Amino acid sequence: MAKKEVDAISGVETTGHEWDGLKELNNPLPRWWVLTFYICIAWSIVYWVLMPAWPLVSDYTHGIRNHSQRTVVAEEVAALEAARAGNAAALVDADLQTIKSSQDLLQFAMANGRAAFGDNCAPCHGTGATGFTGYPNLNDDEWLWGGTLDDISQTIHYGIRSGHDEARTGDMLAFGRDELLDRDQIRDVASYVVSLSGGSPAEGADIANGETVFADNCAACHGEDAKGMQELGAPNLTDNIWLYGGSIETVMETITNGRGGVMPAWTGRLDEATIKSLAVYVHSLGGGQ
Ligand code: HEC
Ligand code: HEC
Repeated sequence: MAKKEVDAISGVETTGHEWDGLKELNNPLPRWWVLTFYICIAWSIVYWVLMPAWPLVSDYTHGIRNHSQRTVVAEEVAALEAARAGNAAALVDADLQTIKSSQDLLQFAMANGRAAFGDNCAPCHGTGATGFTGYPNLNDDEWLWGGTLDDISQTIHYGIRSGHDEARTGDMLAFGRDELLDRDQIRDVASYVVSLSGGSPAEGADIANGETVFADNCAACHGEDAKGMQELGAPNLTDNIWLYGGSIETVMETITNGRGGVMPAWTGRLDEATIKSLAVYVHSLGGGQ
């Protein structure tokens, strides 16, 4: 190889590259840089030996430490589950009142209940449990079947008209379809019912007659005062809170064709700790008794 030209001014050898009279000097790389470079090479060799590094055809080099992020995650999840299992077991053992009054258990039950509600209940009851037509709002203190911890727990366990042997059952009869009342009687009693909440009655309705029809046909379930009966799931008809709607048309439809909302049973589908968490969570929503 020909000897490289030496630059006259700096005395440094040039690389031989030249552009328009500018020559490139061949200065040595700074020592710190070269050193870092060799350290990196040494480090990478150590790394290849210790850690997973090179892809092979169907596998990869595992390295002496056989480290795997997957195993780390699996271990962390197992640890978390073990911690939760402790809490869940404590929930199963405690009764609902105890859970309510124990800071730790309550906190765990609330978090657990909120998550389970989002997964299982929100499709019917809404994310904020505010409900839809036919699906009750669980935030208010109007309860069809009762708002104590035990009532709520029973509702969640066995459901309502769910087909489970211990499900809550009770029928709002189809007074029109089954010809228990004629059209005028339905108009009158519906008008009486909406008038209890300050709604507008049907034109030409005889509200006094409606009151009589009510006493004869409805009071057995909804109560003499129309304030409802939780053993039968018969709602309070005086508070202007409606499951199906309080317009005269909707109330006439309810009386004509009956109603029977179905809420699935959760026992067997959700574990006991989750059902307890849900009961505590729903009870805390504002209307718990
Ligand atoms: C498939 C729809 C559906 C799902 C899912 C559902 N519910 Fe319900 N739920 C209903 C209906 C409908 C009613 C009202 C039944 C009736 O008319 O009596 C109800 C009633 C209730 C009641 C009684 C309210 C009262 O006023 O007494 C509670 C409590 C309740 N649900 C909690 C839950 C919880 C907790 C979950 C989740 C585990 C859940 N529901 C999931 C449809 C559903
Ligand atoms: C055998 C018991 C029973 C009798 C008798 C009965 N009801 Fe009901 N009623 C119920 C039940 C249970 C419900 C709730 C249905 C549901 O949750 O799906 C209900 C619901 C209603 C609703 C719907 C309320 C809302 O919030 O939307 C109205 C209105 C009503 N009943 C009016 C009447 C009238 C008027 C009569 C008499 C003509 C009557 N009921 C007789 C059991 C009864």
